[in-house]
Amino acid sequence: MSFRSFRADSRRAFLRFLAGSPFAAAAASNADDVIPSPKDAMNVFDFEAVARQKLPPAHFGYIATGVDDDATLRANREGFARYGIRSRRLIDVSRIDTSIRLLGAAWSTPIVLAPAGSQRAFHPEAEIAVARAARAKSDLQILSTNTSSSIEDVIAARGAPVWFQLYASTEWNVSRAMVKRAEAAGSPVLVLTVDQISGSNRETLRKFQQQDKRQCSVCHDRSSLATSSQRKAMFEGLDLKGVRFQPPNITWDYVKRLKDTTAMKLVIKGILAREDAELAVTHGADALICSNHGGRAEETGRSTIESLPEVVEGAAGKIPVLVDSGFRRGTDIFKALAFGAAAVCIARPYLWGLAAFGQEGVEAVLEILTRELQLIMRYAGTTSVGQITRAHVVDRAR
Ligand code: FNR
Repeated sequence: MSFRSFRADSRRAFLRFLAGSPFAAAAASNADDVIPSPKDAMNVFDFEAVARQKLPPAHFGYIATGVDDDATLRANREGFARYGIRSRRLIDVSRIDTSIRLLGAAWSTPIVLAPAGSQRAFHPEAEIAVARAARAKSDLQILSTNTSSSIEDVIAARGAPVWFQLYASTEWNVSRAMVKRAEAAGSPVLVLTVDQISGSNRETLRKFQQQDKRQCSVCHDRSSLATSSQRKAMFEGLDLKGVRFQPPNITWDYVKRLKDTTAMKLVIKGILAREDAELAVTHGADALICSNHGGRAEETGRSTIESLPEVVEGAAGKIPVLVDSGFRRGTDIFKALAFGAAAVCIARPYLWGLAAFGQEGVEAVLEILTRELQLIMRYAGTTSVGQITRAHVVDRAR
């Protein structure tokens, strides 16, 4: 290859990288693109521009970031293009029912609000605003270990139980105390996240932090985990001296220990391989979430929509499989349901909605995705979620 063509190739690669980078996209965003109210939103992406405008750079960067080159983050979106929807015709689709049942409860749609920490960084009403939106739309909310609001307050605002997500810690008594608190608050389901071990390389976050000229130490006391975590609602009253979260030595024994500790149902979040789905079943998990943490854990370069079929195969119909990471359109959700997902979780879209317009923004995001899902269900000839099958999706790569 000549030096000239090498340079042209490098430039093209750099431009491709810029086009897919959340950092560059945010830098290029223009105040004129920003919608003034949730009613003006055409799709969920419209909320991202408002969130970018309203949030300090470091807080927006916390939502936007992937890891390393953000390749998994991009793959999560690009993966959907590999699959086409196979529509059927001349079916009476005048009534569309998006409701589902999951682990003994009914929900109005298969759209679930994924756990996301520190929501006060996005809106003063934080998880409470999200709970009110979930209540208005009868959707399931999963509360993070790192929630800014207490589980008791969130359940009161939701008017129904929420699921509680747990990050393991090096101190069993700390994990046990959080599980017992969630159980006492009425949470019926514990979600153990297994895909964050020993941190992750969030370069896009660091770039946004460099842009942020505020004094972060005013709000974030990072002198020790004990001081930074004591600010989080679920850590109140716990002695965190010497405790580390997301330790790298967690194994399937931990799943057994949790099951022996609580009567709550147990869901494992972060499963990407058939073998692990099989192990989840044999270790008594009640459900699992096929997730790569929205491209924020390790850089696999593989989307969850591509991982989903083997995870569903591993679960073999014995437990429900949920999925998340990169879902932004009703058609994305439809494709996952067609591959056998029981529900689809979203995080960034509702966090953009929250940052942009609080509760109203979250409700609008749920409404848009539900409307889009109803539309594709109608066109595909499927009047209920149960009617969406593998026959409704084709793999273009085969
Ligand atoms: C997350 N996610 C996450 N997951 C988890 O189990 N516990 C947590 O505390 C958090 N916190 C968190 C914060 C933020 C800002 C984001 C964006 C994500 C991961 C989340 O639950 C989910 O797996 C993915 O984010 C889904 O992908 P999308 O919808 O954000 O692309």
